Amino acid sequence: KSSANGSGNPRDFIAKMKDGKKRIVIFYGSQTGTAEEYAIRLAKEAKSKFGLSSLVCDPEEYDFENLDQLPEDCAAFFVMATYGEGEPTDNAVQLMQNLEDDSFEFTNGGRDLTGLKYVVFGLGNKTYEHYNVIGRRVDASLSKMGGIRIGERGEGDDDKSMEEDYLEWKDGMWEAFATALGVEEGQGGDSADFVVSELDSHPPEKVYLGEYSARALTKTKGIHDAKNPYAAPITVARELFASHADRNCVHIEFNTEGSGITYQHGDHLGVWPINPDLEVERLLCTLGLHDKQDAVIGIESLDPALAKVPFPVPTTYATVLRHYIDINAVAGRQILGSLSKFAPTPEAEAFMKELNTNKEKYHTVVAEGCLKLGEILQLAAGNDITKIPSPENTTKWSIPFDIIVSAIPRLQPRYYSISSSPKLNPGSIHATVVVLKHENTPSEIVTKKWVHGLGSNFLLNLKHATNGEPTPITSVSDGEHVSVPAYLIDGPRGAYKTETTYKAPVHVRRSTFRLPTNPKSPVIMIGPGTGVAPFRGFVQERVALARRAIEKNGPDALNDWGRISLFYGCRRSDEDFLYADEWPKYAEELKGKFVLHTAFSREKFNPDGSKIYVQNLLWNDREHIAQAILEGKGYVYICGEAKNMAKQVEEVLAKILGEAKGGSAEVEGAAELKLLKERSRLMLDVWS
Ligand code: 2AM
Repeated sequence: KSSANGSGNPRDFIAKMKDGKKRIVIFYGSQTGTAEEYAIRLAKEAKSKFGLSSLVCDPEEYDFENLDQLPEDCAAFFVMATYGEGEPTDNAVQLMQNLEDDSFEFTNGGRDLTGLKYVVFGLGNKTYEHYNVIGRRVDASLSKMGGIRIGERGEGDDDKSMEEDYLEWKDGMWEAFATALGVEEGQGGDSADFVVSELDSHPPEKVYLGEYSARALTKTKGIHDAKNPYAAPITVARELFASHADRNCVHIEFNTEGSGITYQHGDHLGVWPINPDLEVERLLCTLGLHDKQDAVIGIESLDPALAKVPFPVPTTYATVLRHYIDINAVAGRQILGSLSKFAPTPEAEAFMKELNTNKEKYHTVVAEGCLKLGEILQLAAGNDITKIPSPENTTKWSIPFDIIVSAIPRLQPRYYSISSSPKLNPGSIHATVVVLKHENTPSEIVTKKWVHGLGSNFLLNLKHATNGEPTPITSVSDGEHVSVPAYLIDGPRGAYKTETTYKAPVHVRRSTFRLPTNPKSPVIMIGPGTGVAPFRGFVQERVALARRAIEKNGPDALNDWGRISLFYGCRRSDEDFLYADEWPKYAEELKGKFVLHTAFSREKFNPDGSKIYVQNLLWNDREHIAQAILEGKGYVYICGEAKNMAKQVEEVLAKILGEAKGGSAEVEGAAELKLLKERSRLMLDVWS
């Protein structure tokens, strides 16, 4: 009856759709899970609006040939993220090839998709040059092959307004969809995706308390990746900024010996954080689950093809809130609407509806005020969010837990550029993490509070615990701000603590950010702030190579090596100068082939009083830079903040190269940069 024993091929999405009476197939190209979430949301909306079921597909798991077999009363959705420098996500590489390569043929032979009804929502980031190109390319190829797009192509900007862009786009699209498929709204029910049940008797060793995979729970060996992160012991954790700095930067070393994990310089480390205890408490109280937070629960999906249970079960209420779902983020506008009907009072319901429908109010109160879901639920019910939440001071809402599980996205890993080289540090991965903390914008409704980055503060807490230091943030308020107390990293099994060692779940994500293999090529690295992280790994890599070369060929072995220059900037040499003591040692070992240029922006100024940044140093050194790139066929790497720093650095590079070619930054310079990027001789690892 099912495709498993019927048509037999689990990669045949058409057969699966027929079996499950589904009229929509949704392909997602997703790297970190966001596109997948939007794909699932579209599926849920199709269900609740029109009663239509969807097949949500990771394109890697299905054959694409029979896209031309999609019945006329069906539609294909493409929810496609653009990654890095305009590339498809890993899971969509093949799909893009099939769409764009003229030699790929569909089941009927040829490349005819006449009449195929399709929808495109692209996810991109305006900070990058190639904004949403993958969504656009999917649209162009489908339409070229005769497909008919339903509604407008949606485009979301991950830098600013993804949620708003989606909300603005989807209503028009669904209207066009109703017309195209001849369906009417209101045919769907308000169906839950999951059933949550409390289990009376369950062997405790089979309950997930923060593990991410069955292998982690049973401690069986297996490959460690994003689906099965490794609980890596922390061997070193120290503060890199001077004690008088008002900011923190944590250097942390994970021991990966015996784990089978390998990495290269320039790769990224995924760290799986947990939610701060205060937020866990807050939701336990608002949901009325405080007294049974450790009850064992099972969760089943009513429609596994549409929505898989996003984390392993059985587990407990507290574990779900602490480890598995993202309760610490600023709450989205849509969820406030869907939760309003569970409000304890008409006033609370009205408050939620107002925030859901009044965009301006949502913006000032929730977005600017940086309110998390739990805080909004408390505020709506008139509770004081500056107090430690308890069942006594918190109003209970009657929100079923299955709604919480469906509506709040899964907690995602945070990625950091690895700051070590495996050649110099076998069995160890280093990360350099600036701890994020900023003030919200208060309003009449919301008091001043600190907003703490989840991953970096988790690591800061682990640093304190590893060194036996007290956690400095221990109260909800510091007199002026609402604050966030520590993470409960000492808890049961899920806390990743064994005897004296703390652990954090990690995995490695490969990148293409790498040194050229030939050490003769000159290298220019630009990385102010924590942008220097991967370059510490690069320099270490070269040091390891140099040791080998000298051992083999004697002290002159490096004579014909290219120079590697690092342009680094920070506020002051005595405050936030990262790894200040290490650079001279590396320079010595590399026998003058490594040069560090520093810009201390709050210490040394231009004669007119303006700040000196890395791009000013580049300009001062323009002759050497132009020569290294144009004559030496050198490689350029930029790492750090995207919108200002990386952009301005690229502008200066264009100016330098334009001038060296006897032309302008806009024409010759821009053309040279483009060429460098195409040849992977200018590479970026940037964030916004
Ligand atoms: P500032 O904070 O004094 O402005 C690491 O954060 C270093 O990068 C700091 O010295 C910071 O200087 C500097 N920085 C800030 N904005 C920058 C920009 N647009 N380009 C280059 N460096 C910048």
